[in-house]
Amino acid sequence: MPIVTSQEMFKKAYEGHYAIGAFNVNNMEIIQGITEAAAEVRSPLILQVSAGARKYAKHVYLMKLIEAAVADTDLPICVHLDHGDSFDICKSCIDGGFTSVMIDGSHLGFEENIARTRQVVEYAHDRGVVVEAELGRLAGVEDEINVKAEDSSYTQPDEVEEFVSRTGCDSLAIAIGTSHGAYKFKPGTKPQLRFDILAEVERRLPGFPIVLHGASSVIPKYVRIINENGGQLRDAIGVPEDMLREAGRMAVCKINIDSDLRLAMTAGIRETMAKSPDAFDPRKYLSPARDYIRALVKDKIVNVLGSDGKA
Ligand code: G3H
Ligand code: 13P
Ligand code: ZN
Repeated sequence: MPIVTSQEMFKKAYEGHYAIGAFNVNNMEIIQGITEAAAEVRSPLILQVSAGARKYAKHVYLMKLIEAAVADTDLPICVHLDHGDSFDICKSCIDGGFTSVMIDGSHLGFEENIARTRQVVEYAHDRGVVVEAELGRLAGVEDEINVKAEDSSYTQPDEVEEFVSRTGCDSLAIAIGTSHGAYKFKPGTKPQLRFDILAEVERRLPGFPIVLHGASSVIPKYVRIINENGGQLRDAIGVPEDMLREAGRMAVCKINIDSDLRLAMTAGIRETMAKSPDAFDPRKYLSPARDYIRALVKDKIVNVLGSDGKA
């Protein structure tokens, strides 16, 4: 099975009312944990790479590791650039073998976002690569850029038809109240998402795949393990899982998860180091970290995304 685009995955997910997990990858243990879980339950996968991940691990290493995962699992895997902020980074990823790129023009004005997205779509489509775009702006931290809650903005449904038809993008990320990172909602308040906006976008773009960023649930088990072993993650709150299930039943076909992977991995490392303070073989603490990632991803696929058995 070669590396694939997300086109077929999204079509089936839309029709079957489930979602595909898009997991951020930075190193071998993360890639193995995710892909081994997906292989166990036969789920298609999107592995996504941010600019920061490319800088940390180098494009070629991540690409080769993902090729190894495809060979090892025989799963349909799409390799996606997460939050590309320029034509140049999208071009570099397309030329370097990615099958999907995100051009994130959400910080630009409407016309500028359209122009930049259109430029990427033309280059990508000529080479068989698909493009995710974004309208509306999420709060939170991406690549050290911190978007404050007051600078975030919900997607305006009356803009989506014109945006999609003029850009030719293949999927659209929208802002309905999720945010990046582990602190998504104010402590003591009830987490809320604007499902009315999602429903209106779905009505205006029937059959079109929608993407949900900032969708980690900040699983309490991993936060607890971290805090019990020297960490200080107070008031970390994520998106409730039943809201993600609801989004997947609607037009959301891609659910982005990074923070939960970071928490699971950190929990595994902290727990091992606390139990065995004399440990200094990286395999000793990275194996439990990988085990936690495997367990987390399997649970997401089976109990939240519903993509098990769809590969
Ligand atoms: O949305 C952002 C992702 O979590 C990637 O984070 O830019 O720190 O790699 P990063
Ligand atoms: P989380 O921080 O909620 O995991 O979101 C990840 C994401 O949206 C990557 O693009
Ligand atoms: Zn994101």
